[in-house]
Amino acid sequence: MSHDPSLRPRDHFTPRRGWLNDPNGLVLHDGEYHLFFQHLPDSLVHGPMSWGHAVSEDLLDWTELPVALAATDTEHVWSGSVVHDAADTSGLGGDGAGPLVALWTAFEPVGGMQRQSVSWSVDRGRTWTSYAANPVLDIGSTAFRDPKVLRDGNEDGAGWLMVLVLSEERRVETYRSPDLLHWEHASSFGPTGSVEGIWECPDLLRVPVEGLDETAVVMLVSVQEGAPAGGSGMQYWVGELDGADFRPTQDARWMDHGADFYAAVSYADAPEPLVQGWMSNWRYADLVPAATHRGAMTLARTLALRPRDGELALVQRPVVRHSPVVHELRDEPLAGTRVLPVAARTCRVVLEVEPGDADRVGVHVRTGTGTGHRTTVWVEPGSGTVGLDRRASGETGFHEAFAAVHTAPLVRGDGPVRLEVVVDESSVEVFVGGGEVALTDLAFPDPGDDGLAVFAEGGTALVRHLVVHA
Ligand code: FRU
Repeated sequence: MSHDPSLRPRDHFTPRRGWLNDPNGLVLHDGEYHLFFQHLPDSLVHGPMSWGHAVSEDLLDWTELPVALAATDTEHVWSGSVVHDAADTSGLGGDGAGPLVALWTAFEPVGGMQRQSVSWSVDRGRTWTSYAANPVLDIGSTAFRDPKVLRDGNEDGAGWLMVLVLSEERRVETYRSPDLLHWEHASSFGPTGSVEGIWECPDLLRVPVEGLDETAVVMLVSVQEGAPAGGSGMQYWVGELDGADFRPTQDARWMDHGADFYAAVSYADAPEPLVQGWMSNWRYADLVPAATHRGAMTLARTLALRPRDGELALVQRPVVRHSPVVHELRDEPLAGTRVLPVAARTCRVVLEVEPGDADRVGVHVRTGTGTGHRTTVWVEPGSGTVGLDRRASGETGFHEAFAAVHTAPLVRGDGPVRLEVVVDESSVEVFVGGGEVALTDLAFPDPGDDGLAVFAEGGTALVRHLVVHA
């Protein structure tokens, strides 16, 4: 037996068929989360992109709707965002409730020009009309894209801000508009932080600080090369917004230390900062095992900032299904490997453990009898690292040229180490310390690899609490 690429995750969005990359137009509107996405239904590789569309009330069960913005021979629909223009500043609305307005990059396949265009919908995103005077922003560039629009909250609250990248220059450009149709340049950010790869899919969001009545502004940027796990990844800066000027107050940091977290942007109008990303890496995206469809989104994650060593660290918490507990342990010593009486291809494991004198403590997920397959999440208190090891996870050919063990610094308070591992058919997302460290990797075990184990090496650890959700 080997990996069956037609098997789909339960809680991660995948398209019915064909190729998927970036999430686009994320917005909560009328009780529905809208997930638009870079989509090519008839192909398993990237090409003339359209915006696919799905809706959900809980970010877990998605209903896929027809393609929302379709590519033409002369114009492909690249990444962008959607806002609800409640006050109808654009005048596109008509009936009073205000339109949904999409800002997207029109990519011209022949000359490679990248311009920003508008489409709008007055029926909850079901049908879209292209603005007659498109494009609304054209600077004659072939590397100018991924507009993310937000309310211009710093001034009188009436207008709009847009961030987008000059990707080759590793810069985020900010524009301002009173009506979503006329845009004026306001400021530039970068190059700074990781500049090895081109910049893509920026976002700017206000994030609350845990335990304080304060917020800070976070800039997100996806970079195609140079991430810690290899290839593509995301960096963030914490800072302040002065008018349209973003000023970082800390150095750049990596958002996720795995190989498969990219192009994440936030949901407009969500009650708290909430992002979702594409679970892949441009280095090998077209080699990922696939039959009917290729590409999945990460789980949505809420964001907060946590004071740590005089700075602020981003904390990410996945939106998960409330599933029954199928196994639980409390206050048990652990030395060696303990196989758990659970069979699951999709599950969530929460481990609170005192490492004691063990060198390494962790969880094996998707273990196989006979196949030797396993994907391992570990913490090493001595070296202060956490790791995700997919060397023996199953079908590994697609990431052969890559490091298969991804590590991150282990942040620890005084209490036990807290590891949360979300496994869903072909992915593993790890959150350490309540989300202060995140690692996301694709993994493609065989369907029969459904075992689970915890382990301590080189000494005895104490499992304070272990919970496995189905
Ligand atoms: C990021 C990206 C964007 C672009 C889109 C094209 O993954 O390269 O910059 O708009 O994908 O599909």
